[in-house]
Amino acid sequence: MSSSLLTPPSAQEVHVWQWDLDVCGDDFDRHWAMLSTQERERADKFRFERHRRRYVAGRGELRELLSRYLGLSPRQVALDYGPDGKPFCNLQPVGWTVCFNLSHSESAAALAISNGFEVGIDVENVRPIEECVPLEVFSIQECAEFSALPDEERQEVFFESWARKEACLKALGTGFTLPPAHFEFDLSIRGDTTPRFVGGEAEEATQWRICALSPSSTCAGAVAARSTDWSIVEMN
Ligand SMILES: CC(C)(COP(=O)(O)OP(=O)(O)OC[C@H]1O[C@@H](n2cnc3c(N)ncnc32)[C@H](O)[C@@H]1OP(=O)(O)O)[C@@H](O)C(=O)NCCC(=O)NCCS
Repeated sequence: MSSSLLTPPSAQEVHVWQWDLDVCGDDFDRHWAMLSTQERERADKFRFERHRRRYVAGRGELRELLSRYLGLSPRQVALDYGPDGKPFCNLQPVGWTVCFNLSHSESAAALAISNGFEVGIDVENVRPIEECVPLEVFSIQECAEFSALPDEERQEVFFESWARKEACLKALGTGFTLPPAHFEFDLSIRGDTTPRFVGGEAEEATQWRICALSPSSTCAGAVAARSTDWSIVEMN
C-alpha cells in the first residue's frame, strides 16, 4: 500500500479496507518496525509462528492505514484501549473524529473507519457449526427461526447472524461481556438490516444499522453502528 494521505470518511460513510494477512506476512520486518513495544510483546506471546505473523500483519496494516488518515508516521499513531479492550486513537486529527474497528478470521482482515460515530466490524470464516452453538448465540425466537430453516441455508445464515451480532457488540465496545442475544435479528432478512431488539428494546433497535460484507466466498461479514444514516465505501 502507498503512503499517500487519505481523505477522511464523510459523516455518512464507513470506509472498509480488506486485506490478506498471509500475503502481508511477507512485509513482516516493515510491519514489525511500525509496532509499539506493547504490541511487540503481545506478538511474542503467540505460540504459533503463523498466528504471530498474522497479528503483526494486522496491526502493521492498521497502523499504516490510520497513519495515512492522520498524517502521522505509523509508529506515531497513539492507540489506547477501552474498558473491555476496544482500541481507539488517542491523538485525534483536527476537523474530524476518527473511529475504527479491526477484525480478522484465519487470513482475512477487515478494517472499518468512520467519522464521529463508533463502528464495529466482524469477519467470520464460514466453517462447520457445532451442534450446540446456535443455542448459545440465538434468542428463543431466533432459535425457532433457525430450526425452521432448510438444512442447506443454515450454515450461511448462522455465520451471517454471528457476524452481525459480533459487529454490534464491537461497535458498543463491550464484545462478549454482553451475550450475543443482546442484539436480536429477524433471520429471514438477509443482507443490510436493523436489529429487532437491543437488550429487549424495540425502540433502541431502530437507532442501529447493520450492513453486510462479503469478504470472500468463504467468509461472512458485517459492519454495525448506532447510527442509521451511513453506508459502506469499499476501499483498496
Ligand atoms: C471483542 C471480541 C468480540 C473480539 O473477538 P475476536 O474473535 O478476536 O474477533 P475479531 O477478530 O473480530 O476482533 C479482534 C479485534 O477487535 C478489536 N477489539 C478488541 N477488543 C474489542 C472490544 N472490546 N470491542 C471492539 N473491538 C475490540 C481489536 O482490534 C482486535 O484485534 P487486534 O487485537 O488484533 O488488534 C472479544 O475479544 C471480546 O469479547 N472481548 C471483550 C471481553 C474481553 O475478553 N476483554 C478482555 C480484554 S480487557
